Amino acid sequence: MRNDPTVKIIESDFQAWMGDIQARIESALGRLLPPAHTAPARLHQAMRYATLEGGKRVRPLLVFAAGELAGAAPERVEVAACAVELIHAYSLVHDDLPCMDNDVLRRGKPTVHVEFDQATALLVGDALQSLAFQLLADHRLADEPRAQVEMVKALALAAGSRGMAGGQQIDLESTGKALTLPELEFMHIHKTGALIRAAVTLGAACGQVDAHPKSSLDRYGKAMGLAFQVVDDVLDYDSSTGTLGKTAGKDSRQGKPTYVSTLGLPRARELAGELRTEALAALEDLGASARRLRELADFIVLRKF
Ligand code: IPE
Ligand code: IPE
Ligand code: MG
Ligand code: MG
Ligand code: MG
Repeated sequence: MRNDPTVKIIESDFQAWMGDIQARIESALGRLLPPAHTAPARLHQAMRYATLEGGKRVRPLLVFAAGELAGAAPERVEVAACAVELIHAYSLVHDDLPCMDNDVLRRGKPTVHVEFDQATALLVGDALQSLAFQLLADHRLADEPRAQVEMVKALALAAGSRGMAGGQQIDLESTGKALTLPELEFMHIHKTGALIRAAVTLGAACGQVDAHPKSSLDRYGKAMGLAFQVVDDVLDYDSSTGTLGKTAGKDSRQGKPTYVSTLGLPRARELAGELRTEALAALEDLGASARRLRELADFIVLRKF
């Protein structure tokens, strides 16, 4: 199968699509972030440092893939994708702070609090989060105003105490403890899964999807959200700092309960594969327009960084 030339063509087509979206997001974020020399320059420089030139842009890719399924206008999808990526970038800046994971390396560069200072890193997170919501208010993203308000709500829920921020709280409280599998799943679904799921929802909301594909998409987003953090746990254990661009092996050093500490490496890997199967099953009836979502399921689970 790996030697089948068709597989290679499909793979290189996906790589090209991914490269185009990543470049598009880089340029859109560069335009939408405040210029580096606008006062207060230190904060704006740090916001740009935290957001630009780095990261796989998985969440924007999911927004675009779901937007494609929904026949959405790319200019709308681009704004929604930037909003989700800004929330993600903010979450990384705060996640790395000494009061949280105390990391010094992110996306192959010193973390924001190391390059700037802790107070600036705190404000970078605050300002990136506000900018995300400003974008959703500044641009027309859905035909119906009500649908656009729903998008704001979906992102707010995913970022807040019943989403990412809540999951991060559970993460902090769980450090040094062993969690049961349901507890671990609850934590991961919140700290990482919620924003991934929202990326799919927002992309689809930029276009038109009926109730049935909408629930299939949500099933896909839920499976991918959990799979993403399972793979992150596996890579932390199994990869190197050079490959990841962030410090490897820190979960076990910091006593974080992960899928690897709870299930062991082989079973954690197997679970990521099962979640990929579940995500692909959710897309079964959706036809050719779900192609990028399928390819992203493979990318997210099979990635090496
Ligand atoms: C890392 O996310 C943090 C988690 C939520 C697991 P990514 O692996 O998407 O980080 P970047 O954006 O590619 O740097
Ligand atoms: C972070 O999870 C999830 C976020 C909400 C940022 P991790 O703490 O495992 O992410 P990394 O490994 O530092 O990227
Ligand atoms: Mg963390
Ligand atoms: Mg971390
Ligand atoms: Mg991690």
